Amino acid sequence: MAIFKTLAFALSLATAALAATNGTTPMQIRLAYAGPTGMMVSWNTYEKLDSPTVYYGAEQNSLTHSASSSVSVTYQTSTTYNNHVKISGLRPNTKYFYNLEYTNTTTPYSFSTPRVAGDHTPYVTAVVVDLGTMGRDGLTTFVGKGAASPLAPGETNTIQSLQNFQDQFEFLMHDGDIAYADYWLKEEIQGFLANTTIAEGAAVYERILNDFYDQMTEVTSLKPYMVGPGNHEANCDNGGTKDKAKNISYTVDICMPGQTNFTGYRNHFRMPSAESGGVENFWYSYDYGMTHYVQIDTETDLGHGFIAPDEPGGPEKEDSGPFALMNQQTDWLAADLAAVNRAKTPWIVVAGHRPWYISVANASSDVCWVCKDVFEPIFLNYSVDLVLSGHVHAYERNAPMFNNQPDPNELNNPTFPWYITNGAAGHYDGLDTLDRPFQNYSRYAQDSAYGWSRLSFHNSTHLTQDFIASSNGTVLDSATLYKEHKVSGEGYGNGHHGKPNWPMWPHGGPPASGGWKV
Ligand SMILES: [Fe+2]
Repeated sequence: MAIFKTLAFALSLATAALAATNGTTPMQIRLAYAGPTGMMVSWNTYEKLDSPTVYYGAEQNSLTHSASSSVSVTYQTSTTYNNHVKISGLRPNTKYFYNLEYTNTTTPYSFSTPRVAGDHTPYVTAVVVDLGTMGRDGLTTFVGKGAASPLAPGETNTIQSLQNFQDQFEFLMHDGDIAYADYWLKEEIQGFLANTTIAEGAAVYERILNDFYDQMTEVTSLKPYMVGPGNHEANCDNGGTKDKAKNISYTVDICMPGQTNFTGYRNHFRMPSAESGGVENFWYSYDYGMTHYVQIDTETDLGHGFIAPDEPGGPEKEDSGPFALMNQQTDWLAADLAAVNRAKTPWIVVAGHRPWYISVANASSDVCWVCKDVFEPIFLNYSVDLVLSGHVHAYERNAPMFNNQPDPNELNNPTFPWYITNGAAGHYDGLDTLDRPFQNYSRYAQDSAYGWSRLSFHNSTHLTQDFIASSNGTVLDSATLYKEHKVSGEGYGNGHHGKPNWPMWPHGGPPASGGWKV
Protein backbone atom coordinates (compact mmCIF):
# COMPACT_ATOMS: atom_id res chain seq x y z
CA MET A 1 0.00 0.00 0.00
CA ALA A 2 2.80 2.38 0.90
CA ILE A 3 4.45 1.69 -2.43
CA PHE A 4 1.15 2.35 -4.21
CA LYS A 5 0.68 5.63 -2.35
CA THR A 6 4.20 6.71 -3.19
CA LEU A 7 3.67 5.83 -6.83
CA ALA A 8 0.35 7.70 -6.94
CA PHE A 9 1.98 10.75 -5.36
CA ALA A 10 4.77 10.63 -7.90
CA LEU A 11 2.28 10.32 -10.73
CA SER A 12 0.25 13.23 -9.44
CA LEU A 13 3.41 15.31 -9.21
CA ALA A 14 4.29 14.39 -12.76
CA THR A 15 0.81 15.30 -13.93
CA ALA A 16 0.97 18.62 -12.11
CA ALA A 17 4.35 19.34 -13.64
CA LEU A 18 3.02 18.54 -17.09
CA ALA A 19 0.01 20.80 -16.58
CA ALA A 20 2.21 23.61 -15.35
CA THR A 21 4.45 23.20 -18.33
CA ASN A 22 1.51 23.43 -20.73
CA GLY A 23 0.07 26.38 -18.86
CA THR A 24 3.27 28.35 -18.87
CA THR A 25 4.57 27.46 -22.33
CA PRO A 26 5.13 30.67 -24.33
CA MET A 27 2.81 31.38 -27.26
CA GLN A 28 2.13 34.36 -29.51
CA ILE A 29 5.64 35.77 -29.17
CA ARG A 30 6.06 39.35 -30.34
CA LEU A 31 8.60 42.14 -30.13
CA ALA A 32 8.27 45.92 -30.15
CA TYR A 33 10.81 48.72 -30.10
CA ALA A 34 10.99 50.38 -26.69
CA GLY A 35 13.24 53.37 -27.16
CA PRO A 36 16.68 53.43 -28.78
CA THR A 37 18.20 50.98 -26.30
CA GLY A 38 15.16 48.93 -25.32
CA MET A 39 13.07 46.05 -26.61
CA MET A 40 9.64 44.97 -25.41
CA VAL A 41 9.25 41.21 -25.44
CA SER A 42 5.66 39.99 -25.11
CA TRP A 43 4.09 36.56 -25.14
CA ASN A 44 1.02 34.73 -23.94
CA THR A 45 0.56 31.82 -21.59
CA TYR A 46 -2.48 29.92 -20.40
CA GLU A 47 -1.46 30.54 -16.80
CA LYS A 48 -0.60 33.79 -15.08
CA LEU A 49 3.13 34.18 -14.56
CA ASP A 50 4.38 35.58 -11.26
CA SER A 51 7.40 37.15 -12.81
CA PRO A 52 7.63 36.88 -16.58
CA THR A 53 11.29 36.52 -17.49
CA VAL A 54 13.34 36.85 -20.66
CA TYR A 55 16.87 35.49 -20.95
CA TYR A 56 19.09 37.21 -23.49
CA GLY A 57 22.64 37.77 -24.64
CA ALA A 58 24.81 38.76 -27.56
CA GLU A 59 25.84 35.18 -28.24
CA GLN A 60 23.43 32.48 -29.31
CA ASN A 61 24.76 29.99 -26.79
CA SER A 62 25.20 32.39 -23.91
CA LEU A 63 21.99 33.99 -22.72
CA THR A 64 23.64 35.30 -19.57
CA HIS A 65 21.35 38.24 -18.91
CA SER A 66 17.76 38.27 -17.79
CA ALA A 67 14.95 40.78 -17.51
CA SER A 68 11.69 40.35 -15.62
CA SER A 69 8.49 42.17 -14.89
CA SER A 70 5.28 41.69 -12.95
CA VAL A 71 3.07 42.28 -15.99
CA SER A 72 0.95 39.20 -16.70
CA VAL A 73 -2.49 40.53 -17.54
CA THR A 74 -5.77 39.29 -18.92
CA TYR A 75 -9.46 40.18 -19.22
CA GLN A 76 -12.74 38.45 -18.62
CA THR A 77 -13.16 36.17 -21.62
CA SER A 78 -9.54 35.73 -22.59
CA THR A 79 -8.14 32.20 -22.38
CA THR A 80 -4.58 33.45 -21.92
CA TYR A 81 -2.40 35.92 -20.04
CA ASN A 82 -0.43 38.62 -21.83
CA ASN A 83 3.13 38.84 -20.49
CA HIS A 84 5.26 41.90 -21.14
CA VAL A 85 8.93 42.41 -20.29
CA LYS A 86 10.97 45.42 -21.33
CA ILE A 87 14.68 44.83 -21.79
CA SER A 88 16.62 48.06 -21.20
CA GLY A 89 20.22 49.11 -21.57
CA LEU A 90 20.86 47.37 -24.88
CA ARG A 91 23.32 48.57 -27.45
CA PRO A 92 21.64 50.19 -30.47
CA ASN A 93 21.71 48.51 -33.86
CA THR A 94 22.86 45.26 -32.30
CA LYS A 95 21.64 41.71 -32.69
CA TYR A 96 20.69 39.86 -29.53
CA PHE A 97 19.47 36.35 -28.87
CA TYR A 98 16.72 35.62 -26.40
CA ASN A 99 14.49 32.96 -24.98
CA LEU A 100 11.60 32.88 -22.56
CA GLU A 101 11.13 31.11 -19.28
CA TYR A 102 9.25 27.83 -19.55
CA THR A 103 10.13 27.61 -23.22
CA ASN A 104 10.00 24.26 -24.95
CA THR A 105 12.51 25.24 -27.59
CA THR A 106 16.27 25.22 -27.11
CA THR A 107 16.98 27.39 -30.12
CA PRO A 108 16.94 31.03 -29.07
CA TYR A 109 14.99 33.68 -30.94
CA SER A 110 16.74 36.88 -31.92
CA PHE A 111 16.08 40.57 -32.42
CA SER A 112 18.01 43.64 -33.48
CA THR A 113 17.74 46.94 -31.65
CA PRO A 114 16.95 49.94 -33.86
CA ARG A 115 19.48 51.99 -35.76
CA VAL A 116 20.08 55.21 -33.87
CA ALA A 117 18.51 58.41 -35.13
CA GLY A 118 21.05 59.93 -37.49
CA ASP A 119 22.25 56.63 -38.94
CA HIS A 120 21.48 57.10 -42.62
CA THR A 121 22.27 53.55 -43.66
CA PRO A 122 19.68 52.33 -46.20
CA TYR A 123 17.07 49.96 -44.83
CA VAL A 124 13.71 48.36 -45.62
CA THR A 125 10.56 47.95 -43.58
CA ALA A 126 7.23 46.22 -44.23
CA VAL A 127 3.68 47.51 -43.77
CA VAL A 128 0.38 45.66 -43.54
CA VAL A 129 -3.08 46.94 -42.68
CA ASP A 130 -6.29 44.95 -42.38
CA LEU A 131 -4.63 41.57 -42.03
CA GLY A 132 -6.78 38.95 -40.33
CA THR A 133 -6.42 35.34 -39.38
CA MET A 134 -5.86 32.76 -42.10
CA GLY A 135 -7.32 29.28 -42.36
CA ARG A 136 -10.33 27.67 -40.70
CA ASP A 137 -11.69 30.84 -39.07
CA GLY A 138 -10.59 33.41 -41.63
CA LEU A 139 -9.25 33.75 -45.15
CA THR A 140 -9.02 30.43 -46.94
CA THR A 141 -10.04 28.84 -50.22
CA PHE A 142 -13.76 29.26 -49.67
CA VAL A 143 -15.96 31.96 -48.20
CA GLY A 144 -19.45 32.27 -46.86
CA LYS A 145 -22.40 33.71 -48.72
CA GLY A 146 -21.66 37.34 -49.53
CA ALA A 147 -17.93 37.31 -48.82
CA ALA A 148 -15.39 37.65 -51.61
CA SER A 149 -11.88 36.94 -52.83
CA PRO A 150 -11.11 33.46 -51.46
CA LEU A 151 -7.55 32.25 -51.86
CA ALA A 152 -6.82 30.03 -54.84
CA PRO A 153 -5.75 26.49 -53.85
CA GLY A 154 -2.11 26.69 -52.78
CA GLU A 155 -2.01 30.48 -53.05
CA THR A 156 0.56 32.15 -50.81
CA ASN A 157 -1.24 34.38 -48.35
CA THR A 158 0.10 37.60 -46.84
CA ILE A 159 1.34 36.05 -43.59
CA GLN A 160 3.27 33.47 -45.64
CA SER A 161 4.57 36.20 -47.94
CA LEU A 162 5.84 38.18 -44.96
CA GLN A 163 7.58 35.05 -43.73
CA ASN A 164 9.16 34.58 -47.16
CA PHE A 165 10.46 38.15 -47.16
CA GLN A 166 11.31 38.62 -43.50
CA ASP A 167 15.05 38.47 -43.98
CA GLN A 168 14.72 41.56 -46.16
CA PHE A 169 12.93 43.93 -43.77
CA GLU A 170 13.87 45.29 -40.35
CA PHE A 171 10.43 45.45 -38.75
CA LEU A 172 6.74 45.16 -39.50
CA MET A 173 4.10 47.86 -39.08
CA HIS A 174 0.44 46.81 -38.75
CA ASP A 175 -1.71 49.91 -38.83
CA GLY A 176 -4.95 48.56 -37.44
CA ASP A 177 -7.57 45.84 -38.02
CA ILE A 178 -5.32 43.14 -36.72
CA ALA A 179 -6.97 39.75 -36.23
CA TYR A 180 -10.59 40.33 -37.27
CA ALA A 181 -11.77 38.29 -34.30
CA ASP A 182 -14.99 40.30 -34.37
CA TYR A 183 -15.81 38.76 -37.75
CA TRP A 184 -16.91 35.56 -36.04
CA LEU A 185 -20.48 36.90 -36.13
CA LYS A 186 -20.40 37.84 -39.81
CA GLU A 187 -18.81 34.48 -40.59
CA GLU A 188 -21.58 32.71 -38.71
CA ILE A 189 -24.34 34.68 -40.43
CA GLN A 190 -22.80 33.96 -43.83
CA GLY A 191 -22.66 30.23 -43.13
CA PHE A 192 -18.87 30.05 -42.94
CA LEU A 193 -18.89 29.23 -39.21
CA ALA A 194 -22.22 27.48 -39.30
CA ASN A 195 -24.07 26.69 -36.09
CA THR A 196 -22.03 29.01 -33.90
CA THR A 197 -24.37 30.52 -31.33
CA ILE A 198 -24.20 33.96 -29.82
CA ALA A 199 -23.31 32.34 -26.52
CA GLU A 200 -20.37 30.61 -28.16
CA GLY A 201 -19.24 33.83 -29.80
CA ALA A 202 -16.92 34.88 -27.01
CA ALA A 203 -14.99 31.62 -27.21
CA VAL A 204 -14.72 31.81 -31.00
CA TYR A 205 -13.60 35.43 -30.74
CA GLU A 206 -10.77 34.46 -28.40
CA ARG A 207 -9.87 31.46 -30.57
CA ILE A 208 -9.45 33.71 -33.60
CA LEU A 209 -7.23 36.10 -31.65
CA ASN A 210 -5.06 33.23 -30.42
CA ASP A 211 -4.84 31.68 -33.88
CA PHE A 212 -3.84 34.93 -35.52
CA TYR A 213 -1.12 35.80 -33.05
CA ASP A 214 0.25 32.26 -33.24
CA GLN A 215 0.27 32.48 -37.04
CA MET A 216 2.24 35.71 -36.83
CA THR A 217 4.81 34.41 -34.35
CA GLU A 218 7.27 33.21 -36.98
CA VAL A 219 7.64 36.85 -38.04
CA THR A 220 6.91 38.74 -34.83
CA SER A 221 9.27 36.70 -32.63
CA LEU A 222 12.14 37.90 -34.83
CA LYS A 223 11.02 41.30 -36.13
CA PRO A 224 9.52 44.12 -34.04
CA TYR A 225 5.79 44.36 -34.69
CA MET A 226 4.55 47.94 -34.39
CA VAL A 227 0.78 48.14 -34.31
CA GLY A 228 -1.94 50.79 -34.36
CA PRO A 229 -5.64 50.83 -33.48
CA GLY A 230 -8.31 49.93 -36.04
CA ASN A 231 -12.05 49.66 -35.68
CA HIS A 232 -11.96 45.87 -35.54
CA GLU A 233 -10.07 46.07 -32.25
CA ALA A 234 -13.02 47.91 -30.67
CA ASN A 235 -15.82 45.34 -30.66
CA CYS A 236 -16.86 41.68 -30.81
CA ASP A 237 -19.56 42.05 -33.45
CA ASN A 238 -18.02 43.64 -36.55
CA GLY A 239 -19.39 46.96 -35.40
CA GLY A 240 -23.00 45.83 -35.45
CA THR A 241 -23.64 43.12 -38.02
CA LYS A 242 -27.12 42.64 -39.44
CA ASP A 243 -28.53 39.19 -40.10
CA LYS A 244 -30.84 40.06 -42.97
CA ALA A 245 -32.32 36.58 -43.21
CA LYS A 246 -33.47 36.73 -39.61
CA ASN A 247 -33.94 40.52 -39.60
CA ILE A 248 -31.74 40.88 -36.53
CA SER A 249 -29.40 43.82 -36.03
CA TYR A 250 -26.71 43.09 -33.50
CA THR A 251 -24.96 45.72 -31.41
CA VAL A 252 -22.07 45.72 -29.00
CA ASP A 253 -24.62 44.71 -26.36
CA ILE A 254 -24.01 41.09 -27.36
CA CYS A 255 -20.31 41.46 -26.52
CA MET A 256 -19.11 39.79 -23.35
CA PRO A 257 -17.36 42.03 -20.83
CA GLY A 258 -13.83 42.63 -22.00
CA GLN A 259 -14.59 42.30 -25.69
CA THR A 260 -15.24 45.97 -26.37
CA ASN A 261 -13.33 49.20 -26.04
CA PHE A 262 -10.07 47.84 -27.52
CA THR A 263 -9.62 45.62 -24.45
CA GLY A 264 -7.83 42.73 -26.15
CA TYR A 265 -5.62 45.18 -28.03
CA ARG A 266 -4.73 47.07 -24.86
CA ASN A 267 -3.85 43.84 -23.09
CA HIS A 268 -1.93 42.26 -25.92
CA PHE A 269 0.58 44.97 -26.85
CA ARG A 270 2.94 47.44 -25.22
CA MET A 271 3.87 50.03 -27.81
CA PRO A 272 6.50 52.68 -26.89
CA SER A 273 4.11 55.38 -25.69
CA ALA A 274 5.93 55.69 -22.37
CA GLU A 275 9.14 56.38 -24.29
CA SER A 276 7.50 58.95 -26.57
CA GLY A 277 4.86 60.66 -24.42
CA GLY A 278 1.96 58.98 -26.20
CA VAL A 279 -0.99 57.03 -24.83
CA GLU A 280 -0.95 53.22 -24.56
CA ASN A 281 -1.02 51.56 -27.99
CA PHE A 282 -3.10 54.41 -29.42
CA TRP A 283 -0.52 57.05 -30.32
CA TYR A 284 3.24 56.97 -30.01
CA SER A 285 6.42 57.56 -31.98
CA TYR A 286 9.88 56.07 -32.46
CA ASP A 287 12.99 56.58 -34.52
CA TYR A 288 14.70 54.15 -36.82
CA GLY A 289 17.86 55.43 -38.51
CA MET A 290 16.89 58.23 -40.88
CA THR A 291 13.15 58.01 -40.13
CA HIS A 292 10.82 59.30 -37.43
CA TYR A 293 7.70 57.11 -37.25
CA VAL A 294 4.43 58.28 -35.74
CA GLN A 295 1.38 56.13 -35.04
CA ILE A 296 -1.84 58.08 -34.70
CA ASP A 297 -5.32 57.05 -33.59
CA THR A 298 -8.08 57.72 -36.12
CA GLU A 299 -10.63 55.72 -34.08
CA THR A 300 -10.93 57.82 -30.92
CA ASP A 301 -9.63 61.04 -29.38
CA LEU A 302 -9.69 63.35 -32.40
CA GLY A 303 -10.43 66.25 -30.08
CA HIS A 304 -11.48 69.74 -31.14
CA GLY A 305 -15.15 68.97 -30.67
CA PHE A 306 -15.25 66.08 -33.11
CA ILE A 307 -16.73 62.71 -32.32
CA ALA A 308 -14.26 60.11 -33.53
CA PRO A 309 -15.58 57.15 -35.56
CA ASP A 310 -15.49 54.57 -32.75
CA GLU A 311 -16.49 56.83 -29.87
CA PRO A 312 -19.93 56.93 -28.27
CA GLY A 313 -22.17 58.69 -30.78
CA GLY A 314 -19.81 57.95 -33.65
CA PRO A 315 -20.96 56.26 -36.87
CA GLU A 316 -19.35 52.89 -36.09
CA LYS A 317 -21.44 52.42 -32.95
CA GLU A 318 -18.47 50.98 -31.05
CA ASP A 319 -18.94 52.98 -27.84
CA SER A 320 -15.19 53.06 -27.32
CA GLY A 321 -12.84 55.55 -25.75
CA PRO A 322 -11.88 58.29 -25.42
CA PHE A 323 -8.57 57.41 -23.82
CA ALA A 324 -7.20 60.84 -22.97
CA LEU A 325 -8.17 64.44 -22.44
CA MET A 326 -9.69 66.65 -25.12
CA ASN A 327 -7.06 67.60 -27.75
CA GLN A 328 -4.40 65.51 -26.01
CA GLN A 329 -3.61 63.51 -29.14
CA THR A 330 -3.22 66.51 -31.46
CA ASP A 331 -1.29 68.48 -28.83
CA TRP A 332 1.06 65.53 -28.45
CA LEU A 333 1.33 65.07 -32.21
CA ALA A 334 2.25 68.70 -32.82
CA ALA A 335 4.83 68.67 -30.04
CA ASP A 336 6.26 65.35 -31.17
CA LEU A 337 6.67 66.55 -34.76
CA ALA A 338 8.05 69.93 -33.67
CA ALA A 339 10.78 68.14 -31.75
CA VAL A 340 12.01 66.10 -34.71
CA ASN A 341 15.60 66.82 -35.64
CA ARG A 342 15.41 66.57 -39.43
CA ALA A 343 19.19 66.50 -39.71
CA LYS A 344 19.05 63.16 -37.90
CA THR A 345 15.70 61.86 -39.12
CA PRO A 346 14.91 63.68 -42.36
CA TRP A 347 11.98 61.36 -43.06
CA ILE A 348 8.71 61.51 -41.15
CA VAL A 349 6.25 58.67 -41.75
CA VAL A 350 2.79 58.73 -40.13
CA ALA A 351 0.51 55.70 -39.89
CA GLY A 352 -3.19 56.07 -39.15
CA HIS A 353 -5.86 53.47 -39.81
CA ARG A 354 -8.46 55.47 -41.79
CA PRO A 355 -7.85 57.26 -45.07
CA TRP A 356 -9.38 60.41 -46.44
CA TYR A 357 -7.90 60.36 -49.92
CA ILE A 358 -9.42 57.22 -51.45
CA SER A 359 -11.52 56.25 -54.50
CA VAL A 360 -14.68 55.22 -52.72
CA ALA A 361 -18.13 56.70 -52.36
CA ASN A 362 -18.47 59.45 -49.82
CA ALA A 363 -19.49 57.06 -47.07
CA SER A 364 -18.68 57.69 -43.45
CA SER A 365 -17.27 54.27 -42.75
CA ASP A 366 -14.74 54.48 -45.57
CA VAL A 367 -13.66 58.11 -45.66
CA CYS A 368 -12.69 59.82 -42.43
CA TRP A 369 -13.35 63.48 -43.11
CA VAL A 370 -13.00 64.42 -39.47
CA CYS A 371 -9.57 62.78 -39.48
CA LYS A 372 -8.67 64.95 -42.45
CA ASP A 373 -9.80 68.06 -40.65
CA VAL A 374 -7.89 67.23 -37.51
CA PHE A 375 -4.66 65.79 -38.84
CA GLU A 376 -4.04 67.20 -42.31
CA PRO A 377 -3.02 70.73 -41.22
CA ILE A 378 -0.59 69.29 -38.69
CA PHE A 379 0.98 67.01 -41.27
CA LEU A 380 1.52 69.95 -43.63
CA ASN A 381 2.72 72.22 -40.88
CA TYR A 382 5.47 69.84 -39.88
CA SER A 383 6.32 68.63 -43.37
CA VAL A 384 5.32 65.00 -42.93
CA ASP A 385 6.61 63.04 -45.91
CA LEU A 386 4.37 59.97 -46.07
CA VAL A 387 0.95 59.12 -44.61
CA LEU A 388 0.00 55.43 -44.55
CA SER A 389 -3.51 54.10 -44.02
CA GLY A 390 -5.74 51.12 -44.73
CA HIS A 391 -9.32 50.37 -43.65
CA VAL A 392 -10.49 50.22 -47.28
CA HIS A 393 -9.49 46.77 -48.48
CA ALA A 394 -7.68 47.77 -51.63
CA TYR A 395 -4.49 49.55 -52.65
CA GLU A 396 -4.32 53.13 -53.83
CA ARG A 397 -1.23 55.29 -54.20
CA ASN A 398 -2.13 58.92 -54.46
CA ALA A 399 -0.27 62.11 -55.25
CA PRO A 400 1.12 64.21 -52.41
CA MET A 401 -1.98 66.06 -51.24
CA PHE A 402 -3.36 68.94 -49.24
CA ASN A 403 -6.93 70.21 -49.10
CA ASN A 404 -7.98 67.86 -51.92
CA GLN A 405 -5.32 69.26 -54.23
CA PRO A 406 -2.37 67.30 -55.63
CA ASP A 407 1.02 68.87 -55.15
CA PRO A 408 2.09 70.30 -58.54
CA ASN A 409 5.54 68.84 -57.98
CA GLU A 410 4.07 65.33 -57.62
CA LEU A 411 6.88 63.13 -56.24
CA ASN A 412 9.66 65.51 -57.25
CA ASN A 413 10.25 67.37 -53.99
CA PRO A 414 6.62 68.08 -53.08
CA THR A 415 5.55 70.29 -50.21
CA PHE A 416 2.45 68.22 -49.45
CA PRO A 417 2.52 64.81 -47.71
CA TRP A 418 2.32 61.69 -49.87
CA TYR A 419 -0.76 59.52 -49.19
CA ILE A 420 -0.88 55.76 -49.70
CA THR A 421 -3.71 53.45 -48.63
CA ASN A 422 -3.00 49.73 -48.53
CA GLY A 423 -5.70 47.71 -46.80
CA ALA A 424 -5.25 44.75 -49.14
CA ALA A 425 -3.41 42.41 -46.77
CA GLY A 426 -6.31 39.96 -46.74
CA HIS A 427 -8.85 38.69 -44.25
CA TYR A 428 -12.04 36.61 -44.27
CA ASP A 429 -14.25 39.11 -46.10
CA GLY A 430 -11.88 39.65 -49.02
CA LEU A 431 -11.18 42.80 -50.99
CA ASP A 432 -13.28 45.92 -51.45
CA THR A 433 -14.09 47.38 -54.86
CA LEU A 434 -12.82 50.87 -55.49
CA ASP A 435 -15.08 53.28 -57.35
CA ARG A 436 -14.29 54.00 -61.00
CA PRO A 437 -13.10 56.27 -62.37
CA PHE A 438 -10.49 56.67 -59.68
CA GLN A 439 -10.07 60.03 -57.99
CA ASN A 440 -8.13 62.58 -60.03
CA TYR A 441 -5.35 62.43 -57.45
CA SER A 442 -5.02 58.65 -57.71
CA ARG A 443 -1.78 57.56 -59.34
CA TYR A 444 -2.12 53.79 -59.14
CA ALA A 445 -4.88 51.65 -57.69
CA GLN A 446 -5.84 48.00 -57.68
CA ASP A 447 -8.42 45.96 -55.81
CA SER A 448 -7.85 42.43 -57.07
CA ALA A 449 -4.65 41.24 -55.39
CA TYR A 450 -3.69 40.74 -51.77
CA GLY A 451 -0.45 42.32 -50.75
CA TRP A 452 1.64 44.48 -48.46
CA SER A 453 3.83 47.55 -48.74
CA ARG A 454 7.61 47.63 -48.70
CA LEU A 455 9.31 50.90 -47.79
CA SER A 456 12.92 51.26 -48.90
CA PHE A 457 14.81 54.21 -47.45
CA HIS A 458 17.76 54.76 -49.77
CA ASN A 459 19.17 57.94 -48.24
CA SER A 460 17.96 61.27 -46.87
CA THR A 461 16.32 62.22 -50.16
CA HIS A 462 14.90 59.07 -51.77
CA LEU A 463 12.22 56.70 -50.51
CA THR A 464 10.59 53.91 -52.53
CA GLN A 465 7.23 52.34 -51.76
CA ASP A 466 6.41 49.03 -53.45
CA PHE A 467 3.20 47.03 -53.42
CA ILE A 468 4.21 43.38 -53.06
CA ALA A 469 1.66 40.85 -54.31
CA SER A 470 1.45 38.18 -51.63
CA SER A 471 0.64 35.39 -54.08
CA ASN A 472 3.96 35.48 -55.92
CA GLY A 473 6.10 38.23 -54.40
CA THR A 474 6.03 40.39 -57.49
CA VAL A 475 6.03 44.18 -57.35
CA LEU A 476 2.71 45.40 -58.75
CA ASP A 477 3.44 49.06 -58.14
CA SER A 478 6.58 51.02 -57.34
CA ALA A 479 7.12 54.74 -56.88
CA THR A 480 9.97 56.78 -55.46
CA LEU A 481 9.58 60.02 -53.56
CA TYR A 482 12.31 62.62 -53.81
CA LYS A 483 12.44 65.15 -50.98
CA GLU A 484 15.16 67.74 -50.72
CA HIS A 485 14.93 67.79 -46.92
CA LYS A 486 16.69 71.03 -46.28
CA VAL A 487 17.59 71.01 -42.62
CA SER A 488 18.73 74.55 -41.93
CA GLY A 489 17.71 78.08 -42.79
CA GLU A 490 14.34 79.34 -43.88
CA GLY A 491 12.11 77.69 -46.37
CA TYR A 492 11.97 74.27 -44.79
CA GLY A 493 8.57 72.70 -45.07
CA ASN A 494 5.72 75.09 -44.56
CA GLY A 495 7.69 77.22 -42.15
CA HIS A 496 5.01 77.33 -39.48
CA HIS A 497 6.70 75.24 -36.85
CA GLY A 498 4.82 75.76 -33.65
CA LYS A 499 1.31 74.99 -32.56
CA PRO A 500 -0.98 74.73 -35.60
CA ASN A 501 -3.24 77.63 -36.33
CA TRP A 502 -6.58 75.86 -36.24
CA PRO A 503 -8.50 78.34 -38.46
CA MET A 504 -6.29 77.06 -41.30
CA TRP A 505 -8.63 74.07 -41.40
CA PRO A 506 -9.99 73.78 -44.91
CA HIS A 507 -13.54 73.48 -43.62
CA GLY A 508 -13.18 76.47 -41.35
CA GLY A 509 -12.71 74.57 -38.11
CA PRO A 510 -14.82 72.17 -36.13
CA PRO A 511 -18.57 72.58 -35.99
CA ALA A 512 -19.72 74.28 -32.84
CA SER A 513 -21.52 71.18 -31.66
CA GLY A 514 -18.90 68.72 -32.80
CA GLY A 515 -20.12 66.10 -35.18
CA TRP A 516 -19.45 63.80 -38.04
CA LYS A 517 -19.13 65.06 -41.57
CA VAL A 518 -20.08 62.71 -44.34
FE1 LIG B 1 -10.89 49.29 -40.52
